[in-house]
Amino acid sequence: MYSEKVMEHFANPHNVGEIENADGVGEVGNAKCGDIMRMYLKIDNGMITDAKFKTFGCGAAIATSSMATDLVKGKSIDDALKLTNKAVIEALDGLPPVKIHCSVLAEQAIKAALRDYYVKNGIDPTPFLGEETNSCDHCDHCGH
Ligand code: FES
Repeated sequence: MYSEKVMEHFANPHNVGEIENADGVGEVGNAKCGDIMRMYLKIDNGMITDAKFKTFGCGAAIATSSMATDLVKGKSIDDALKLTNKAVIEALDGLPPVKIHCSVLAEQAIKAALRDYYVKNGIDPTPFLGEETNSCDHCDHCGH
């Protein structure tokens, strides 16, 4: 059911943990399953020098976040903004269809962390990330 790469990243995830004094921190919840992901980014001169994550998500969420953090490290903010869950899935040699929503967590958490970075630096994130959407709008897990 899972590719070898997914199993590798699940069994031995990269970049798990948190970054003290991170330049951007993003937390998102998954509308489909209610799982949570927190992403930490260290940003220096427009470059992402470090990325770490913590999740209450499933194995697919762990594997996609492991890969997504690997992919954004060393990239510019502009390139990180272009990272899609599709690109992460491709890098992992695919995910079963029922697990695609898990990969969305990593993409959204990176974007939320970049939004936080912009706001912390007094920059309006809307031109780069659009209006902030509340994932709670699509989910009725907790009744918020
Ligand atoms: Fe929730 Fe995968 S089932 S992140």
